[in-house]
Parts: sequence; C-alpha cells; structure tokens
Amino acid sequence: MNSSEAPVGAFPVIAIDGPAGAGKSTVARQLARRLGFFLLDTGAIYRCLALHAQEQGVSWNAGPALAGLAAELPIRFSHGAPAPDKDRDGADAEAASAPALAEEQVFLGEQVVTQSIRSPEISLGASQVSAHPEVRSALLGLQRRLAATGPCVVEGRDIGTVVLPAAPIKLFLTASAVVRAQRRFDELSARGVAADRGATLREQEERDRRDATRATAPLRQADDAILFDTSELGLDQVLDQIEAICRQRLKPWASPLGTDAKDTTGTTGTTGTTATNDPLQSESSAPVA
Ligand code: DC
Repeated sequence: MNSSEAPVGAFPVIAIDGPAGAGKSTVARQLARRLGFFLLDTGAIYRCLALHAQEQGVSWNAGPALAGLAAELPIRFSHGAPAPDKDRDGADAEAASAPALAEEQVFLGEQVVTQSIRSPEISLGASQVSAHPEVRSALLGLQRRLAATGPCVVEGRDIGTVVLPAAPIKLFLTASAVVRAQRRFDELSARGVAADRGATLREQEERDRRDATRATAPLRQADDAILFDTSELGLDQVLDQIEAICRQRLKPWASPLGTDAKDTTGTTGTTGTTATNDPLQSESSAPVA
C-alpha cells in the first residue's frame, strides 16, 4: 500500500497512555526501538515547562503566565545516535531487530535537561503545570506537530483521547498502585536519587488524583484503546504482545521507513524539525520564537 492509500496520516502513530509507573516509558522506548520509530515523550514537555517556569520565576499555579511560556517553550529532543556495541544493554541485545541507541536527550534552550527534569520536585511541578487548561491547549499544537514528523510512539496521558484521537493504534497501560509506586522507587534509587518508599507512594497517589480529576483532558482510557495491566506480567512479555499487535496493525503502512519517510525529508519546516530517513536519528525541536 502506498502513502496515498494509508488509512490515517502519512506516518503511523502509536499512542501509549496510562498512569505513572505503569511501565509506559520502558515499553514506549523499547517498542520504538524495535519498530524503528522515534519516541515522543510528552511528559518531558510538561516537565520542561515546569523547569523553565522555575528558572523564569513563574509560579506553577499561574496558568496564563505558564501558557505564555508554553507557547514559546524552547524544547528540543535528540533521538540518539547509534551507540557502540559495548554500550548495548541486555534488553537491546535481546531485541534482534532493535538498533542500539544512545539515550534520547532533552534540551531546554542550550541546556541538556534529560536528567534534571526527572527529579521529584520537577515531577510535582509537571503535574501542577499540566493541570491548567490553558497550558494544555498551548502545548497541543506542539505535540501534534512533533508527532507528524515521522513514524512515532507517543507516550503521555491524553494522547489517544485528546492529542491524537485518530491514532491508528492506542494502548493504555496500567498496574496496581503498590506495584507502580515500587517501580518508581526502584527507578529513582537506580538513578541515585534519594527516595523514601512511603513518600513515593503518597506523591504518586497525589499525582494520580490530580491527573485523573483535572477538568481538562483527565487521564482516561480511550474507548478504542487496548488495555494492558502490567501488575503481574513482566514488561518483556507486555512488550512482545504489544509488538505483535502493532506489526499486525501497521501492515497498511507496509514499510514505515521506506519511501514514505524519505519523501518528507526536510519538508516539515513549520515545526523546525530536521528529519532524516531514519526517524531514530532525527532531531525534533519546538519552534523557538
Ligand atoms: O509521564 P511523566 O511522569 O513524565 O509526566 C509528567 C507529568 O505531566 C505528569 O504529572 C502527567 C503530566 N502529563 C500530562 O498531563 N499529559 C501528558 N500527555 C503527559 C504528561
């Protein structure tokens, strides 16, 4: 099937939503690698906005001022260059079709903020800034433009319901609160971030409550999303199942890295994006005013 016959959009999009700690990030990253898609982590956009606001002295409660910052957020993602073989971890080595890549980097202006936006403080800030309707609407166009630059896995909370409701594949990952808190604690500990197990659970419950009850784009499963509960299943099992579903549903696009991708190289000027034939090696950037 050529691009003119593809059912939705020029590029396939896989939307992955779900609460914090459900394994979304790991699944989204590994799935993107296995399929040769780029990963759009929309949580990183809200996190960057929280950090940017903090640096600019703008309160996380000031919706209109935050929306102003959001409209000109100088965020940029680099999707990684091929990593040397010695850097491959077990998961990469096992995934036969997955190229080994350096970790995606997030830039705020000239700063590399990949790690600093993951602190517990900025997690809280991201949750607060994301609750403002004017912020969400200011970031909608940015997310859509970035997602339109190539075959991608888009990870967030409202991707299948609000940002990309026409996405051909929608997945909703969840897990029990206790399992999710334990995963978050393990993740923070592995990064050397001092964390308290009880506080991690409480902070996560607070973020869950805010994400699920906000008036605009609350966290909810799209009617046509496929639900995965990762409480009992290992993430590798989930990933294998998801990959099989995606490969089946992606057949209308035949070869996502084939001529369709090449045809649009360098034609996405409105987003400030530089696309290469391989979406995993491209850089996506928000328009910097
Ligand atoms: O996925 P994450 O933990 O990095 O997201 C950070 C915060 O941003 C989290 O509180 C939820 C919010 N968020 C959102 O409201 N909508 C999205 N599409 C992505 C994240």
